[in-house]
Amino acid sequence: MTNRKPVVAANWKMNGNRQLVDNAVQSIAKQSELKNNLDVVISPPATLFSYLDSAKKTYNSDVILAAQNISEFEQGAITGELSVHHVKEMGCQWVICGHSERRSLFGERSSVTAQKVLQAKKQGLKPIICVGETAEEYEAGKTYSRLTAQIEAIFNLGGEQAFTDSIVAYEPVWAVGTGKAASPELAQEIHHFIRGMIRAMSPVTAASVRILYGGSVTPDNAAALFSQPDIDGGLIGAASLVPEKFIKICQAAM
Ligand code: G3P
Repeated sequence: MTNRKPVVAANWKMNGNRQLVDNAVQSIAKQSELKNNLDVVISPPATLFSYLDSAKKTYNSDVILAAQNISEFEQGAITGELSVHHVKEMGCQWVICGHSERRSLFGERSSVTAQKVLQAKKQGLKPIICVGETAEEYEAGKTYSRLTAQIEAIFNLGGEQAFTDSIVAYEPVWAVGTGKAASPELAQEIHHFIRGMIRAMSPVTAASVRILYGGSVTPDNAAALFSQPDIDGGLIGAASLVPEKFIKICQAAM
């Protein structure tokens, strides 16, 4: 890693409850070495936003609250969706956009992810822009063309500003929840490619943008992944549901 501040983000997906919020926020707050040295993010289900926001005050924690998704629209007759304004009002500072589960389970296209990224930027929320290829694409040697299409969709709609002060998360779909993380060497090669794409838009943004790796990160493999020069931290699923494991992963990022 370089002088970019590392980030470790917990994506709880459709898991967790108030008890986990208390355990996680309190345990993270006790690790004083984590303060200032990295951005620790928790993205719980939306029903826990306000509870987590108050837990931050209770435990004097500077953990960053992130939404798992927002609507691509600003408001309107869209039953069941949350707008960027809703999540912002609930204390969210960051938002995950284009997670592979949104893409695979809900048919979210890259053009829609791009709209979400723009909604977030417009309202001052930091997007964690997820990209990644499926197992079939990986096996067919289409990793780079898939990533190019996903990144270009955002660039085409929002220009280089869409990446300024944003976070990118490379999550190979074949590594998500499978226990088969990408090797540090492969992850580095792909992160380097992503940073290169951003460099072609803006060398300044490429130098500062933080690119996270996600997919079966554990306390055992985190340090090797995070020590790669283009890997600035991780987006963590299953292991983030166990505070002791999540803290070890945070420590590996410093
Ligand atoms: O967003 C995090 C994620 O999809 C990775 O999940 O369970 O493989 O760490 P997991």
